[in-house]
Amino acid sequence: MKVAIASDHGGINIRNEIKSLLDEMGVSYEDFGCDCETSVDYPDYALPVAQKVASGEFDRGILICGTGIGMSIAANKVKGIRCALVHDTFSARATREHNDSNIIAMGERVIGPGLARDIVKIWLGTEFEGGRHANRVGKITEIENNNL
Ligand code: RB5
Repeated sequence: MKVAIASDHGGINIRNEIKSLLDEMGVSYEDFGCDCETSVDYPDYALPVAQKVASGEFDRGILICGTGIGMSIAANKVKGIRCALVHDTFSARATREHNDSNIIAMGERVIGPGLARDIVKIWLGTEFEGGRHANRVGKITEIENNNL
C-alpha cells in the first residue's frame, strides 16, 4: 500500500498527525506538500495527489484543507478519482465498502487530530464490498467516460 498525502496551509497539523500515524502503521507514503504556512491554493496540492492515484503510482490519497471541501472537489475532477469528504468513522468505512473511494479528504477546521487518525485507520483498513456496489461504481465511471 502506497499513500500520497498533501494539504494546503489550512491542513498542515492534521497532515503531520496522519504522517505520524502512517509511520506507526508502517504504511509507505509520499508527502506532496505544502511546505509552508503562507496561504496557498488547494487545487495545486489536490492535483498531483489525484494524478498519482489515478495513474496507479499510488494506491490511495489523503488530502486535508480547512474544510476538506475544496480538496475533494478538485480531486474529483481527475478521471478515475473517487474522493470522499469524510468527517466521521461510519462514513470512512462505508465509502470504502460502497464507493471504493481511492482518496479521502478531511477538514482541519472541522475535526480534531484524534478523529482524523481513527478515520484514516478505518479507511485504509476497509475493503470494497464489490457486488451491487461495483455495478454502481461502474455507472459513475460510465458518466466520467462519456462526459455526461
Ligand atoms: C483556505 O482558506 C480554505 O479555503 C481551504 O483550506 C479549504 O477550506 C477550501 O475548501
